Amino acid sequence: MTRRRRIGILTGGGDAPGLNAVIRAVVYTAQKAFGWEVWGIRDGFEGFLRPDGAFRLTAEHVHGILPRGGTILGAANRGNPFARKVIRDGQEVIEDASNQIVQRVAELGLDALIVVGGDGTLGAARDLARLGLPIVGIPKTIDNDVPGTEATIGFDTAVNTAVEALDRLHFTAEAHHRVMVVELMGRNAGFIALKAGLAGGADVILIPEIPFRFEAVCAKVKRRAAAGRPFSILAVAEGAYPLEGQPVFRTTGDAIYSPRLGGIGTQVAAYLNEHCSESRVLVLGHLQRGGVPSALDRWLATHFGHEAVRLADRRAWGHMVALRGRKVIRLLLEEALQQPKRVDPHGAEVQTARDLGIAFGDEEG
Ligand code: F6P
Repeated sequence: MTRRRRIGILTGGGDAPGLNAVIRAVVYTAQKAFGWEVWGIRDGFEGFLRPDGAFRLTAEHVHGILPRGGTILGAANRGNPFARKVIRDGQEVIEDASNQIVQRVAELGLDALIVVGGDGTLGAARDLARLGLPIVGIPKTIDNDVPGTEATIGFDTAVNTAVEALDRLHFTAEAHHRVMVVELMGRNAGFIALKAGLAGGADVILIPEIPFRFEAVCAKVKRRAAAGRPFSILAVAEGAYPLEGQPVFRTTGDAIYSPRLGGIGTQVAAYLNEHCSESRVLVLGHLQRGGVPSALDRWLATHFGHEAVRLADRRAWGHMVALRGRKVIRLLLEEALQQPKRVDPHGAEVQTARDLGIAFGDEEG
């Protein structure tokens, strides 16, 4: 009797709404359309480094998980298996665990491995594919900063959550004649702040791709007040930073997960309080990662999961699935990941915002 082909799946990096939808799509497609056996790897690549880190994943595990946030496989931010941060005797040390992973994949008898991740996890997937692992990638991250694809799983839900926050804050800002500063996630990319800012009617959007001046932000708030609108909403990406300044990091005291961006919203609010107008700050934080995935993220996850299994069936190793227009395409990880993906400061979306009167804090005067 011939052995059924085995496909493994892991979700690496931070979680994103829609991961369970992609796991479900992979399991159903693999089993129903291709007759593969599926194995779940727990906590990203970490699961390969633990004896109990892999298990037979069946339809029973995935029934009903489509609308659930998080990931039933777990995720780990320890990220790069080629440079894995671990604490030994109280000291942080860097280990290369790639050979252990290659060995474990062989022991488990995996014929294919689907890696669902952001740019860090997919970069590791590309490097493991170079070592000969049969890998197909799927892009996910709320930050939407994976090159080669117009959208990543989780981005749409995070934007919807941010828009809801902006909508809610509008009322209280207006009632109190205040500035409400909302710090949004996104790492070094401003996609969440830009899209949520546009959709949520922000008056100022600050993103890492357009360094700002505090005075220009203040000037915009004052212009609005002078025009009879004594309240403003600011959508500030956590990676935004002032011209001649640096991105702001929070000190977590956690050697493994530092550095983490955060704090620019507080600095902006402090400046405005002193020079301009009463301000409050909200750091939306991990709420953007939680919750029920949007219809768009479920749609994307389902198509990505389905296409990834099809690529595995065709032995298209070293590829990732991606969205172009409304089509799911495939790309070589090597080619896709060459340049970081960032907001185009001269692109149509930024121009649209500017034409609507939204300030980016780089304006003169
Ligand atoms: O990459 C996703 C993301 O949510 C970023 O937007 C954010 O900077 C980071 O992860 C937060 O990481 P952690 O969950 O480790 O705090």
